[in-house]
Amino acid sequence: METPELFEPTEREQRLGPGAVLLRGFALPWVPELLAAIAAVESASPFRHLVTPGGFTMSVAMTNCGALGWTSDRLGYQYTATDPESGAPWPAMPAAFARLASEAAAVAGFAGFAPDACLINRYLPGARLSLHQDRNERDYSAPIVSVSLGMRATFLWGGLARSGPSLKVPLRHGDVVVWGGADRLRYHGVQPLKDEPHALLGSQRFNLTLRKAG
Ligand code: SIN
Ligand code: FE2
Repeated sequence: METPELFEPTEREQRLGPGAVLLRGFALPWVPELLAAIAAVESASPFRHLVTPGGFTMSVAMTNCGALGWTSDRLGYQYTATDPESGAPWPAMPAAFARLASEAAAVAGFAGFAPDACLINRYLPGARLSLHQDRNERDYSAPIVSVSLGMRATFLWGGLARSGPSLKVPLRHGDVVVWGGADRLRYHGVQPLKDEPHALLGSQRFNLTLRKAG
């Protein structure tokens, strides 16, 4: 019998690039804490459908927590310290979010990740996110940690240019994707969600995107 390679990807760990890994089910032990924290964030800063600089209303509803939050309006994309709807600071980063992100990043090879921003996306059936890069952060040395909860989605994992093929990666409840290093600026998106209700969350999907923005 062959000795397994030390870092051979297991079934639970799927390599998507030199700096990108899908950690299947990594967030499952955290789910109750994550859902309680999402509800608390939502009660202070409700989900809203942002408008893009091009004038389109996004199908995904968004809110944020942490020192900085990602927003979009007719003037552009930016990180702000306050919720533009209330003028108050974004809700604090729940401790569970920061710990989960730091642990997932470490497993993916990015030790010491300390996110200061978490974008929370809510998808209902039909919602989608077109191919984009995460590039509004101050520097790209920190990875992105993305946590999926609820209904499954098809994640589009593209290259460093918008054109060209995308890998279709099914993301399920509890999956975590980490991308950084040479993969930090990979294009990615989410196909329109099918209505396949999830046992715990029904006809919705949440995605947490944890970043070092400032
Ligand atoms: C994002 O790119 O901000 C979200 C990705 C996802 O919902 O899985
Ligand atoms: Fe993104």
